[in-house]
Amino acid sequence: MKIDSFKFFNHEYTVDGYTELYKKIRFDLRYPANVKRLEIFKNLLKKHKPKKIIDAGCGAGMPLIAIKKRGFNIFGYDKAKNMVLEAQKNLKKNKFSTNLVFYDDFENPKNVKNNSVDCILGMGTFFYSKNFKKTILNQRHKLKKNGRLIFSLRNRLFDVATLNDYTKLFLDEIYEINLLKKQWKKKYKNLTKSFTERKKIKLKKKNIDDKGVYSLVHNPLTITNELFKLGLKCEGIYFYHFHPLPPVFENFDQLYYREISWKMENPTDWRGFLLASGFVVDCKKILID
Ligand SMILES: C[S@@+](CC[C@H](N)C(=O)[O-])C[C@H]1O[C@@H](n2cnc3c(N)ncnc32)[C@H](O)[C@@H]1O
Repeated sequence: MKIDSFKFFNHEYTVDGYTELYKKIRFDLRYPANVKRLEIFKNLLKKHKPKKIIDAGCGAGMPLIAIKKRGFNIFGYDKAKNMVLEAQKNLKKNKFSTNLVFYDDFENPKNVKNNSVDCILGMGTFFYSKNFKKTILNQRHKLKKNGRLIFSLRNRLFDVATLNDYTKLFLDEIYEINLLKKQWKKKYKNLTKSFTERKKIKLKKKNIDDKGVYSLVHNPLTITNELFKLGLKCEGIYFYHFHPLPPVFENFDQLYYREISWKMENPTDWRGFLLASGFVVDCKKILID
């Protein structure tokens, strides 16, 4: 099963969920990873002070509203119609114009002019693209000279630290197990058995997350180069959603796990390369032609 993300996010329960996510921090309800992520974005905006901002894939609009309240000139769009409606409802509640959000597609935005924006934000969005490079290039076109693209990605290296079936898949790939001779394959299988003990490992389909939604993971060690080729200079990488131990420990004592995770959150801690499931890249448009 493979679901397009905007269809998944169009469901009522995900729409409501996205308003709730940013309300008071309650470790008993959920881990507030999105709150941490928003904090990173707000700090970067404070640093760069862009004039006109677009929030691509704005969801229920709660981050947009938080940024608007800090005095920024921000607009947002989403491809899920119900998200746009929810964002308009939330804008109204906060006494802002409902015209701040509209319907559009970040893979190919039609309602944002080229070279017209100082900063584009992608909070939990662009990794849902069918064609990631095209999406990023299309954002770049919308930016003015020296404009900024700030967006979050899912961390591929986190698979090493989860010590589960994802670790097995990751190691199989980097060790190129398929190319090994038979005996060694067997030895390796024995050695890595414990990673797949809990669940019978079904070969996971590439780029499908645990909710069945199509989404990509990225390597924070290579992202700077990848973005440079697309005409973006990555000036910072910031980690969030730290895991102090492999995720299975969350089943033993959820509250304790979340409390120590929260204490560990430090966007510039190098351990984020392995222990954080997400990261934010802060890029500037550079000339490529
Ligand atoms: C994980 S949610 C994040 C929402 C919001 N940015 C936040 O941080 O609360 C991802 C959002 O991206 C939207 N989305 C997915 N594909 C899209 C596309 N091609 N164009 C615009 N929005 C899209 C979804 O509908 C959803 O609202």
